[in-house]
Amino acid sequence: MEKKIIRFGVIGCGLMGKEFASAAARWCHLNHVDFEPRITAVCDANPEAARWFLDHVPTVENVYTDYKELLANDSIDAIYCAVPHNLHEGIYIDIIRAGKHLLGEKPFGIDRGANAAIQAAIKAHPDVIVRSSSEFPFFPGAQQIVKWVNEDRFGQIIEVEAGFWHSSDLDPSKPINWKRRIGTNGEYGCMGDLGLHVLHLPLRFGWRPANVRALLSKIIPERPDGKGGMAACETWDNAILACEVKTSEQQFPMVLSMKRIAPGHANSWFIRIQGTKFSAEYSTKNPKQVSSLPYEQGGVQAWHVYDVPYKSAYDTITGGIFEFGFSDSILQMWAAFCDEIVHGKSGLAFGCATPEEAEGSHRVFTAALESQRTGETAVIDWRE
Ligand SMILES: NC(=O)c1ccc[n+]([C@@H]2O[C@H](COP(=O)([O-])OP(=O)(O)OC[C@H]3O[C@@H](n4cnc5c(N)ncnc54)[C@H](O)[C@@H]3O)[C@@H](O)[C@H]2O)c1
Repeated sequence: MEKKIIRFGVIGCGLMGKEFASAAARWCHLNHVDFEPRITAVCDANPEAARWFLDHVPTVENVYTDYKELLANDSIDAIYCAVPHNLHEGIYIDIIRAGKHLLGEKPFGIDRGANAAIQAAIKAHPDVIVRSSSEFPFFPGAQQIVKWVNEDRFGQIIEVEAGFWHSSDLDPSKPINWKRRIGTNGEYGCMGDLGLHVLHLPLRFGWRPANVRALLSKIIPERPDGKGGMAACETWDNAILACEVKTSEQQFPMVLSMKRIAPGHANSWFIRIQGTKFSAEYSTKNPKQVSSLPYEQGGVQAWHVYDVPYKSAYDTITGGIFEFGFSDSILQMWAAFCDEIVHGKSGLAFGCATPEEAEGSHRVFTAALESQRTGETAVIDWRE
């Protein structure tokens, strides 16, 4: 099958930039796709980070330390940008103005003002496809939950819980990095870092929180600064957001949690939906297992647990009996983004997080900060 090659530039060659390189390198994993990303240029302010690409990605033709030089390269069609949050606003806007499609990392701006500026650039350049990274909904178990919601299985929703939990920060000897500083990660703290992952499916389902009562915690006050001293941790470690969802049809509580310090959890993303006719749960903690509980009046209330086959939005060479993992979800997300560049939105099995969903997450995080400050429930106005 002839494939449309999409020439990519990567801005930010750290943890996530390399994940894209790995996904692009195993594109043969995907069956029946007529598009393929090719990383031809990379940029990092730190030349050492870009060096990894030179050593491992043979398609790289150009290496830059100034992203503006990369954007001036007319042969580049699209950009993956994975840089600290304080840089999203300036770099994303320049990418969009340069007319290059963008898969940007969340949270899409360090705060709501930065996000608004990015949204304005998107509106001014409607031909540029802009999406946010959010890979977890591509896990087959999460796709099963999406299918059940789309089939309207749940009846009246009783409550929803969604979260994303880590635990490596439980170790106080872990050195400080940009994610613990307000200047680079933002006042949102763990919400900016983890929150769009948590809100992606609820917002996709149309479950917008009408209000939020936030409980934000700072747990480890200081960390080694890497120079023999200690540095203050400025950002929120954990967030519990108790929200009320009001749709045209129903109203229910939704508890969202984003935790950098959840003992025992390495990268646990989960969603639980309880309904009067059907309940379902999925967590990447047990990545193969999906649980569901169908209920008929007076009937037995029994959870069914099954191993979901390896089957996500895009068909792969892997047989259904095998296991799906984090790097598979990244590959699927990249397939969705490239598919949208080449074929547009219609026909997409499941699309990447949209700028509207990223904007919605900023409304929730900003209201959560207000709730934390006042100790009261903050109303979220979706009309403005
Ligand atoms: N989708 C996910 O699962 C996931 C996971 C982790 C991080 N992230 C997001 O990815 C983004 C980057 O996080 P990371 O963990 O990869 O960080 P990182 O620190 O590993 O990498 C960031 C890179 O950006 C480079 N950089 C800094 N300033 C630059 C500039 N002006 N021009 C070019 N490069 C510059 C740094 O040198 C570094 O190599 C953040 O938005 C973060 O929230 C997403």
